[in-house]
Amino acid sequence: MSLEQDQQSYDVVVLGAGAAGLMCAIEAGKRGRRVLLLDHAERVGKKIIISGGGRCNFTNLRTTPANYISENQHFAKSALARYTPQDFLALIEKHKILWHEKTLGQLFCDRSAQQVTTMLQAECREAGVVILLETAVVSVESVGDEFVVVTTRGQITAGAVVVATGGLSIPKMGATGIGYDVARAFGLRIVEPRAALVPLVFSPEDEVRWCDLSGLSAEVVASAPAAKVGRGAAPAFREKMLVTHRGLSGPAVLQVSSYWQPGQKVVFDLAPGREVFDLMMAPDAIREPEAATYYLRDVLPARLAERWVAQNIPPDWKTRSVEAMEAKLHRWEFVPAGTEGYAKAEVTAGGVSTAELDSTSMEAKKAPGLYFIGEVVDVTGHLGGYNFQWAWASGAAAGRAV
Ligand code: FDA
Repeated sequence: MSLEQDQQSYDVVVLGAGAAGLMCAIEAGKRGRRVLLLDHAERVGKKIIISGGGRCNFTNLRTTPANYISENQHFAKSALARYTPQDFLALIEKHKILWHEKTLGQLFCDRSAQQVTTMLQAECREAGVVILLETAVVSVESVGDEFVVVTTRGQITAGAVVVATGGLSIPKMGATGIGYDVARAFGLRIVEPRAALVPLVFSPEDEVRWCDLSGLSAEVVASAPAAKVGRGAAPAFREKMLVTHRGLSGPAVLQVSSYWQPGQKVVFDLAPGREVFDLMMAPDAIREPEAATYYLRDVLPARLAERWVAQNIPPDWKTRSVEAMEAKLHRWEFVPAGTEGYAKAEVTAGGVSTAELDSTSMEAKKAPGLYFIGEVVDVTGHLGGYNFQWAWASGAAAGRAV
């Protein structure tokens, strides 16, 4: 099938009908621009539909630039300030979608994530956006002062092109590297993409030590001490950790995975804010593995407590050795063999370098008329609704400028 004559020329072509592309198309359409939004999938916003366990954690009320990882920590500030969580919430309320706040400012739909895509499609209709599905982008070329988008259904010309094709996470859902290919074709630098918000995998030795405990979880503080943000340390995360059949997952581990680099340690405080073995310090206290396990069961699931003590039996039970055991509990270290990769990663960190883009419009400095938004850009949010907020904010920034 090829494109009809009247489908071949637009003011703006938005590549990728995910969260960022939909928002950009709406904002540009509302300004009277003739907008085409295209995607190779059979429906729009597939990741929105599966997000947040089917309820879509669509934003976070506590969003600040510190919730994002990027080579340039300042880049996201302008877009985030001009399209806030409250702005998206106003849209949700306009469409009478019921929502609730979970922990830490995370907002979810009461019913279904599908309501968010239905809402965005309705906004697209109202803004006159043309949506073309099952059409893959092959390449983008600049011809005179226009762009030609080569697709599997023919060529489209446009005054401006917005690349919103996301990252490499979950190839099964249609993720491709086309956004990076387009950026490279226009001479833009890419910050090496990597899987982020992803479970970590144990080394073979650690797998033997821990993986039969798969399914057990505990609240911990997780950090990647070698990771840096500017000149400072990367943040630590107090959330749940979950043992899996190959390594570790759970929110604390997903968060820290975004900062972790191969070969580095990750560190867990397994009993944050607690002195677990202090009752063993008294001169007449019973000092033996069963006593240590007994106290540790207060903070960890019984089998995890037992295993941790068995793996960390002190050489003797002198006070100094019990103190060392306490210290180890608050600094449980290991070097992951790797991550579960893009197949299980919620997002892709890295991407089009922010140094190449204007932070108010998302336009490429070297290629006027070409814009990059959402996950394809080197801005990656923490877990908790921050990635969608970046998609909405960067999408709105480009949609208002294009
Ligand atoms: P997105 O990936 O959404 O969209 C890109 C679009 O481009 C897709 O529709 C794709 O089909 C299309 N495309 C790719 N290549 C193409 C080509 N060659 N031709 C045509 N089209 C092409 N975040 C959050 O804040 N809260 C949450 O609850 C969750 N939950 C969650 C769960 C799961 C399982 C995953 C995998 C991810 C999340 N996320 C999340 C992350 C969030 O989904 C993600 O950050 C945004 O969807 C990114 O939006 P984009 O529009 O940038 O890319």
